[in-house]
Amino acid sequence: MEKSSGLFMFLMLLMLMIKVSFSDEESFTPDESRLWFDGDGESELEKGELSYEMDSVLMRGSERVARIPVNVDSFGAVGDGVADDTQAFRDAWETACSLKNAVFLVPERRHYKVNATKFRGPCQKNLIVQVSGTIVAPDEPKDWDLEHPRMWLFFSKLKGVKFQGGGIIDGSGSKWWAASCKITTTNPCKGAPTALTIDSSSAIRVKGLTVQSAQQMHFTISRSDAVRISGVRILSPEDSPNTDGIHITESSNVAIQNCHIGTGDDCVSIVNASSNIKMKNIECGPGHGISIGSLGKDNSTAIVTGVVLDTATLTGTENGLRIKTWQGGSGYVKSVRFENVKMNDVKNPIIIDQFYCDSPKSCKNQTSAVKISQVIYRNISGTSRTPKAMKFACSDSVPCSNIVLNNINLETENGTAETFCNCAMGFDYGIVQPKADCLKSSSCGGVEEDNQAQTHDPIHTEL
Ligand SMILES: *[C@@H]1O[C@H](CO)[C@@H](O)[C@H](O)[C@H]1NC(C)=O
Ligand SMILES: *[C@@H]1O[C@H](CO)[C@@H](O)[C@H](O)[C@H]1NC(C)=O
Ligand SMILES: *[C@@H]1O[C@H](CO)[C@@H](O)[C@H](O)[C@H]1NC(C)=O
Ligand SMILES: *[C@@H]1O[C@H](CO)[C@@H](O)[C@H](O)[C@H]1NC(C)=O
Ligand SMILES: *[C@@H]1O[C@H](CO)[C@@H](O)[C@H](O)[C@H]1NC(C)=O
Ligand SMILES: *[C@@H]1O[C@H](CO)[C@@H](O)[C@H](O)[C@H]1NC(C)=O
Repeated sequence: MEKSSGLFMFLMLLMLMIKVSFSDEESFTPDESRLWFDGDGESELEKGELSYEMDSVLMRGSERVARIPVNVDSFGAVGDGVADDTQAFRDAWETACSLKNAVFLVPERRHYKVNATKFRGPCQKNLIVQVSGTIVAPDEPKDWDLEHPRMWLFFSKLKGVKFQGGGIIDGSGSKWWAASCKITTTNPCKGAPTALTIDSSSAIRVKGLTVQSAQQMHFTISRSDAVRISGVRILSPEDSPNTDGIHITESSNVAIQNCHIGTGDDCVSIVNASSNIKMKNIECGPGHGISIGSLGKDNSTAIVTGVVLDTATLTGTENGLRIKTWQGGSGYVKSVRFENVKMNDVKNPIIIDQFYCDSPKSCKNQTSAVKISQVIYRNISGTSRTPKAMKFACSDSVPCSNIVLNNINLETENGTAETFCNCAMGFDYGIVQPKADCLKSSSCGGVEEDNQAQTHDPIHTEL
């Protein structure tokens, strides 16, 4: 009796802690917080979307602001998918950025070929980037700008900018994929560009765009605060290497809502120095799932706190909800909640892997690790492609703690799902299937550092 009320108190405390870590939504501009999806967010969102459209250039006679269209065509863009429209885009950007209430306009039904470009701010107030047509990257890696090996469309130092329109950002990635280190071992291979990056920016909205066939990652948010992404589609084939959908690094207060992501790598990946990341209504597949990590590579320190995923469907993915860290790292992952998730034929529906080793060589066991605690999984159901539907492979010297499971129903086709624990501590309540008693019994104490190479266990390696 006493024991269970203690458990209850602990649980309440845990919930409170996770809630508290999200209470600083005020850091959004008033406009942003209005559109934030807590409380009765849905109806708020509807209203919000409406006034947002009013702002757009497509609404004739907007009463609110007189918009100044800055059309790339007026700067000599051809839009036939063949001509080099890079200079026209750069010139149009300079103009749009220098004007208040400007709309940088990429017209519909055209294809603009644009080289790697930095679209730099700061810009004048109320800039809209309206992508209605298609922007394509040159498809030949050999001709890529040596000065910008890792970026294609790179936006930085922006504040209060809206990206919108039903257009497409197409990285023409297939030749890059064929040359990837994951595919070829003959060429000297290097990393490839990220298709779209928003860097060092704040109060940004991205709505309705499609990003496809990225050379490597599709869409990175780096060193930014208050970014809201909604209705974005990300599409690449299942076998395209390292094509993460949305990658968040060193950023806070990021919301991703109503997005459909199908790629050859993580649908969403959240890495170092990120906090208050919310995802709602996400469809993921194909891909490697929703990931926190990888973290701690090359003995680095990483901190990720306050991540919530609410309502998602994962279909045919390698992983479902994953936290992955390299051995030898430090720092922590704390306050994470995954809830209301449906798995359809997912290989590893719930997985914590502190032995992550995405390298051709095997990784040594080390004593240092990125600490993982306060992770709640609630209302997760569906089918697992492998019997170990839940895997908590935690470090022997830095065990996972406060792992909480509530209302889990994961099964394999023949109904033999099970839970694996190594040094994972926590508890479950409600209906939890497969049983997760190992969370209560898997105590663990500082195993000696081991300099031998680790055996190549498939859960530790990503292909
Ligand atoms: C775009 O890249 C192509 C191929 O490398 C190059 O020939 C062209 O000059 C570049 N355009 C600009 C404006 O730099
Ligand atoms: C992690 O983020 C911090 C804070 O932004 C930064 O100083 C550090 O270099 C980052 N570490 C890695 C490995 O990227
Ligand atoms: C990480 O630390 C371990 C143990 O101190 C050391 O053996 C290893 O060489 C380090 N790795 C890197 C990439 O610095
Ligand atoms: C559980 O999650 C599913 C989505 O997988 C959702 O449809 C359902 O409403 C959730 N149940 C509760 C009680 O929130
Ligand atoms: C159940 O299915 C899993 C995966 O589909 C398979 O690996 C396992 O061997 C099966 N077990 C039995 C008892 O048939
Ligand atoms: C590394 O640690 C893991 C987890 O304790 C263990 O399963 C594995 O056998 C270890 N590897 C070696 C080479 O000792």
